[in-house]
Amino acid sequence: MDLGLRGKVAAVGGASAGLGYATAEELAREGAAVVIASRSAERIASAAERLRHAVPGADVLAVVADLSTPEGCAALIEGATAGYGGLDCLLLNGGGPKHGYALDADDAAWHTALDAVLLAVVRQMRLALPAMLARGGGRVLAVTSTSVRQPIPDLVLSNSLRAAVVGFLKSLANEYAARNVLINCLAPGRFGTDRVLSADAARAERQGLSPEAEARRSMAQIPIGRYGEAPEYACAATFLLSFANTYMTGTHVYCDGGQLRTVL
Ligand SMILES: NC(=O)c1ccc[n+]([C@@H]2O[C@H](COP(=O)([O-])OP(=O)(O)OC[C@H]3O[C@@H](n4cnc5c(N)ncnc54)[C@H](OP(=O)(O)O)[C@@H]3O)[C@@H](O)[C@H]2O)c1
Repeated sequence: MDLGLRGKVAAVGGASAGLGYATAEELAREGAAVVIASRSAERIASAAERLRHAVPGADVLAVVADLSTPEGCAALIEGATAGYGGLDCLLLNGGGPKHGYALDADDAAWHTALDAVLLAVVRQMRLALPAMLARGGGRVLAVTSTSVRQPIPDLVLSNSLRAAVVGFLKSLANEYAARNVLINCLAPGRFGTDRVLSADAARAERQGLSPEAEARRSMAQIPIGRYGEAPEYACAATFLLSFANTYMTGTHVYCDGGQLRTVL
């Protein structure tokens, strides 16, 4: 299958590690020029180096951007428009919200999470849509969470704000589908990234277990029997971000090893 990504420009947030980095690498492998962003100058520069090594000849631009701020969102999108003359594909991704139970978060924590999870998406889309329309369309994918379908016990900020992201993007998908901007969400289940491994370590400590025992308990709940690897997420994400995707929009799909036990 030709993904139609050769010569396209893709912007990827939260790309110094984890799911964002893996998706940027896959997009580059398919021939897209990639603009990658994260908060740390050192980590994003080293990710760009890693990517160039993994995909010889890859066209990569590293941008330092805190996507929980308006300036950071502008820096990522302008990295594409100023650096490459336009934008075709956008992965909406960044750090996840803090862990905690339903009443643990104070107002400051809610505001921080609102900026990082919901407003980051709104702000990037305000800038990305005109750039995509100027090139005859685009593809957008948001990294969400299974929390949208089934709340995660100690992640109330994700349970609440990811649902708002999905609602916002569904509205946009309806408004822009006829103009060839296709917008979807892909929820990871549990991938063995820094975020998941450090959450496992924290949960293990609370329960007096070893991190390995907590990981085993968690993996036993996944029909495939293991955590996903970031490149497995990246393959699904790259299709949804590609121009081979011509008829999927406004969907929220899962890449979770069967973890969600619901029928739909
Ligand atoms: N892994 C999973 O199984 C899983 C499951 C459900 C949901 N998710 C969600 O998927 C997203 C990615 O997860 P991951 O596992 O890939 O996380 P990760 O391994 O911790 O990587 C997060 C990436 O985001 C960057 N980042 C963090 N805050 C940022 C900000 N404000 N602005 C720009 N970049 C930022 C980090 O780099 P810097 O530190 O350099 O900024 C890093 O590159 C998160 O939102 C997470 O909640 C993941």
